[in-house]
Amino acid sequence: MATTILIGAQWGDEGKGKIIDVLTERATWVVRAQGGNNAGHTVEVGDEKFVLHLVPSGVLHAGKRCVIGNGVVLDPVSLVEEIDGLTARGFPVAERLHISDRAHVVFPYHRMLDAQGEARRAKGEQIGTTQRGIGPAYGDKAARFGLRMADLLDPEFPTLLTSRVAEKNRALAALGAPTVDAAEILAATQKAMKTLGPLVCDTVPLLYDAVARGEEMLFEGAQGILLDIDFGTYPYVTSSNAASGGACTGSGVPPNRMDRVVGVLKAYVTRVGEGPFPTELHDATGEELRRVGNEFGATTGRPRRCGWFDAVAARHAVMTCGVDEWALTKLDVLDGFATLNICTAYELDGRRIAHFPANVRELARCKPVYEEHPGWQASTRGAKRLEDLPPAAQTYIARLEELTGVPVGILSLGPRRADTILRGVHA
Ligand code: IMP
Repeated sequence: MATTILIGAQWGDEGKGKIIDVLTERATWVVRAQGGNNAGHTVEVGDEKFVLHLVPSGVLHAGKRCVIGNGVVLDPVSLVEEIDGLTARGFPVAERLHISDRAHVVFPYHRMLDAQGEARRAKGEQIGTTQRGIGPAYGDKAARFGLRMADLLDPEFPTLLTSRVAEKNRALAALGAPTVDAAEILAATQKAMKTLGPLVCDTVPLLYDAVARGEEMLFEGAQGILLDIDFGTYPYVTSSNAASGGACTGSGVPPNRMDRVVGVLKAYVTRVGEGPFPTELHDATGEELRRVGNEFGATTGRPRRCGWFDAVAARHAVMTCGVDEWALTKLDVLDGFATLNICTAYELDGRRIAHFPANVRELARCKPVYEEHPGWQASTRGAKRLEDLPPAAQTYIARLEELTGVPVGILSLGPRRADTILRGVHA
């Protein structure tokens, strides 16, 4: 199992940071292939807590090599802040990090256009973005107007930037928004490149050689399949491919070199931002899930919407990402609930359906069909084997496996590395 792709199987915030950290033990390489600093991966090591936005979580381990791949959009100033913060806490990031020269750059005008885009959308059509400029940066990439890390190292960078800024200022002025100053952006970017420049390289041969040597590689997904630009709840999605295929296009490692896909699945469901969410709870149970699960965004601090486990959505992840096994997280959050619901199908306009609709207006009309399960009302923390769990918790897990056709290989019962049960290939 040399190359593993890890994906979020819901709307992000599944607890990927911790699972990546656990899997990193065996990996030599940890690669980010999509998204940007809209992501917030929380990792607890000992008594210390880290929230990583752009830097791959492997940086917290000595001897690991980390790659920010071509599919990532990267804000140089905020990346330097993150690197400096980690370095000050004793992690020599610069020694461990490689940045693709093909990665696209997020500039301040992208962030401003992100905010403008949200503010100008009709009521009810806001996406609730993280306002990190992600959509406009990927927009420029697709429109072939973006700048990449390679451009930032080119002597022509000032000219290239000036023409972009002129165009973006026309757009900002037309919206009645403040404009940006090319000289200021140039100075800030060049300052950031003093740190980042030495880390930029062609990561394609680097990864090709590592794969050829059979070195263990972990592709650290950001966001989740339901936020994927193709398979998510479009248009309430992010602007990259969070599906497993994004690991290939965003790194240059081809599909026939990928060995395994791990899907990270929370034992219930959360979402930040707008868009349909069939199993969302608007009642005291939803409040309780938010309180016990501490469901507040790692990047924006926004309260997350909470709801019951949705097997229809999980099967959508299985079909679009080829999930081989689940890493099931936050099961311990359910410890105190008297009963638990699992959504097994949807009812849409009087018909029962088992697939995840493409049309968000249809998805918004879907009513979950629930199966009720008794809770276990006992602590699962500290369990070292599945058999140590209360019988009702074992039944709940077995039912999720049965409904999705995918086994649970990793079970997370708390934020620390020690609160983890490993099965199958990981044991
Ligand atoms: P954007 O990626 O900032 O454009 O935001 C688009 C949508 O994706 C919004 O609903 C965000 O809340 C959501 N989103 C983006 N990144 C994350 C993440 O890492 N976790 C959870 N939701 C995210």
